[in-house]
Amino acid sequence: MKLLSKSGTPNVPAKKGKKRIRRKTPVYHATSSADIVLSLKPVLPLYMIWPEKLAKKAQDFIRQFPGDVMYAVKCNPSADVIRTLYKNGIHAFDVASIDEIKIARKAAPRAKLYFMHPVKSPEAIRMAYHKYGVRAFVLDTLEELYKIVRETDLGADLELFVRMALPKNNSAQIDFAAKFGASQEDTISLLKESRSVSSKLGLCFHVGTQTLDPDAYAQGIRIAAETIRKSGVSVDVLDIGGGFPVAYPGQTPPEFSEYVDAITQALSFNELQHMPLLCEPGRALVAEAGTLVVRVEQRRGNILYLNDGTYGGLFDAGQQLQTRFPVQKICEDNIKSAAPDQPYQFAGPTCDSLDMMPGPFMLPADIKTGDWIQIDNMGAYSQVMRSNFNGFGTCNALHIIEEDLFALK
Ligand SMILES: Cc1ncc(COP(=O)(O)O)c(C=O)c1O
Repeated sequence: MKLLSKSGTPNVPAKKGKKRIRRKTPVYHATSSADIVLSLKPVLPLYMIWPEKLAKKAQDFIRQFPGDVMYAVKCNPSADVIRTLYKNGIHAFDVASIDEIKIARKAAPRAKLYFMHPVKSPEAIRMAYHKYGVRAFVLDTLEELYKIVRETDLGADLELFVRMALPKNNSAQIDFAAKFGASQEDTISLLKESRSVSSKLGLCFHVGTQTLDPDAYAQGIRIAAETIRKSGVSVDVLDIGGGFPVAYPGQTPPEFSEYVDAITQALSFNELQHMPLLCEPGRALVAEAGTLVVRVEQRRGNILYLNDGTYGGLFDAGQQLQTRFPVQKICEDNIKSAAPDQPYQFAGPTCDSLDMMPGPFMLPADIKTGDWIQIDNMGAYSQVMRSNFNGFGTCNALHIIEEDLFALK
């Protein structure tokens, strides 16, 4: 095990004439996550964020997607994540609240912000427009349109996006149609009403998070095209939302290129090939750039009692969503276990019986108290969901620069 450096402020050397990079999250150089765990022997849940993976993901996504990409900040609002995405070509951010606006403005002052929550408080709209220079707002009701117009003092430079609901998407982990989005009839009248007060008018939808069928986007585009045609209104941009999936055990989504093909074909089939396109991914950009290391505090049969759970970083593994994350055992002697894998459930540290994660999580039969479990794909909807319920909210986070990658530079 060799850690090249360890400090509260980073060790990325400054190039001549350039400022040293200052990150909030401490940076480690290491060869593997097991190295780090065995060096630190973390008692608290530990996040490892891999900036190089994040950078590569952003670059790949931008290269393949046939439009502009904005990042959905809610998924992981870390300033370091936002800065890394910005540096790697993502210059637009979907924000849901004033707090997210503040974070994104500070981390990426020149980025374009889109306020994409369909129900905003009047105060938030006013502050976003007048104080933080936000010009793009979403709406799915007439009430919201009037609110935006009023609170921006009828800003001449408003960019309004009408969000339409789609039919239920059974291939999504969470279908988004139930909560937000206007019916087709209402979308048409909202487009008509919004046109006269928008410098740029957009139509948007969200197919639902972790959508495993690329056809859901094709269907959304078909309905969007039909809606635009029926409205007779000229629409300047189509935003097809987020929802692009990540591979978890038991779920092997199609390649991203299949989503791109479905989207491109649907655009041209519906004569929207010249329409400027936007998307708002969260999970697909950041999930793979995060690892969470937890410790087994007790084993009872096939239930592992962990130091983190559904009120911490593992909400998605809970009874509601039952996401199975990729897991690996890391033990004190770092010898790869010869024991066969078997299914386990996890139990979180709180006294609440709902704090259980059914999995099944496949881990070696000899896993025991004191071993650590490396949980991958935890860059999305994890760190941001933590609460301090029962006093178990505290965790640590590190940015990891992989030594071999670093050596190549
Ligand atoms: C409006 C909006 N855009 C984008 C996203 C990101 O979705 P995903 O992480 O599935 O890409 C969400 C997620 O809740 C959302 O509500």
